[in-house]
Amino acid sequence: MANTQGTTGLLGWIDERFPLTKSIREHLTEYYAPKNFNFWYFFGSLAILVLVNQILTGIWLTMNYKPSAADAFGSVEYIMRDVDWGWLIRYMHSTGASAFFIVVYLHMFRGLMYGSHKKPRELIWIFGVLIFLCLMAEAFMGYLLPWGQMSYWGAQVIINLFSAIPGIGPDLAVWIRGDYVVSDATLNRFFALHVIALPLVLVGLIVAHILALHEVGSNNPDGIEIKKVKGPDGIPLDGIPFHPYYTVKDLVGVVVFLIFFSAVIFFMPEMGGYFLEHPNFDPADPMKTPPHIAPVWYFTPFYAMLRAVPSYFGTQVWGVLVMGGAIVILFFLPWLDRSPVKSIRYRGLLFKLLLAAFVVSFLILGYLGALQPSEGRTVVARICTIIYFAFFFLLPLLPMIEKTKPVPERVTEK
Ligand code: HEM
Repeated sequence: MANTQGTTGLLGWIDERFPLTKSIREHLTEYYAPKNFNFWYFFGSLAILVLVNQILTGIWLTMNYKPSAADAFGSVEYIMRDVDWGWLIRYMHSTGASAFFIVVYLHMFRGLMYGSHKKPRELIWIFGVLIFLCLMAEAFMGYLLPWGQMSYWGAQVIINLFSAIPGIGPDLAVWIRGDYVVSDATLNRFFALHVIALPLVLVGLIVAHILALHEVGSNNPDGIEIKKVKGPDGIPLDGIPFHPYYTVKDLVGVVVFLIFFSAVIFFMPEMGGYFLEHPNFDPADPMKTPPHIAPVWYFTPFYAMLRAVPSYFGTQVWGVLVMGGAIVILFFLPWLDRSPVKSIRYRGLLFKLLLAAFVVSFLILGYLGALQPSEGRTVVARICTIIYFAFFFLLPLLPMIEKTKPVPERVTEK
């Protein structure tokens, strides 16, 4: 006899004890996604793909990596030269780290363009910002593990920032390092956090991110709530089942992504020093500070903001606050953006110009953060930092003057 899901046999037996068919229906075959997704909607599933790549290659790297100051650098060299396919596993992991940020930055930009952070998707966005924070911590700690010059001095510079916090700062920095300088103790705890603690949190947050998404349903390039117009069967007229339509469409994104990903791995794994920085081919030397310390490219916009702020009253704390504020302010975006219109397609010229200025200033900051500072560059970095924050502070004022276009009832793609 069939059960409530209409399944029999082994599947029926499982369904009576575990929500297998029910979950597949809820999240795949009967999850109705807007039919007008464009390529910008590839990046969520690509982020999951990169995550799986990082976890799998990470597990295999751990089989030969040694988390100790004496052995770490040598064990990475051993993986690269002596372990069968070790070079491939390592390049997949190091390129995967950069790919993760490329994909996530594009994913966030898509959200900004189509107003995906707005009601009722505020929690999806907030989980997203938490994921972004967690990803930054994960990448920062992973970067110490090869124990190269940049690993060591990069960690030294960033952890020292915590000592700028008034009162508890210096003690906090010692607590993070487990020592007075970055040392074997730091490497050990960063390994523990990078390999198990943060990935667990990251996976948990991603599950929450997608559960929140499936609770309210996906936004789309028109910024229309498809659930508002339903057929007699209760299914949104502009919705199509996620499986098979978007599982197949996402596969196209996966193939294109893998072409670029493999091209980098096989032909330019260092990406001219951007994905793997050249000073990191020298083992960490606490007695020799490299002439130019810069974080990996995905951190450079924030690093440029840090350097752009003068050390008033002889403390770096202002720079730290601005850099931290640049990330914290993302949490408030759903409430700062008060326009009744979601998608950029129906917003006015002012929003488009503001968003363009925001993105360009972020890219310039990223470029400047990788270079040695000079007087001229600091001035440009200051201007870009102001534009970055101006985007968030002008957003709530925009609806007063912005002329938006009428939003259609139904999605525009036929
Ligand atoms: C590991 C990182 C992440 C993963 C695996 C991930 C995964 C996903 C997936 C699978 C979707 C649905 C497909 C899509 O809309 O592209 C999605 C939607 C969304 N994500 Fe993420 N995400 C990540 C990070 C972020 C971050 C950092 C933010 C923003 C700060 C964010 C904000 C959003 C929003 C607002 C949506 C809804 C988009 C819409 O319906 O238009 N996500 N995410």
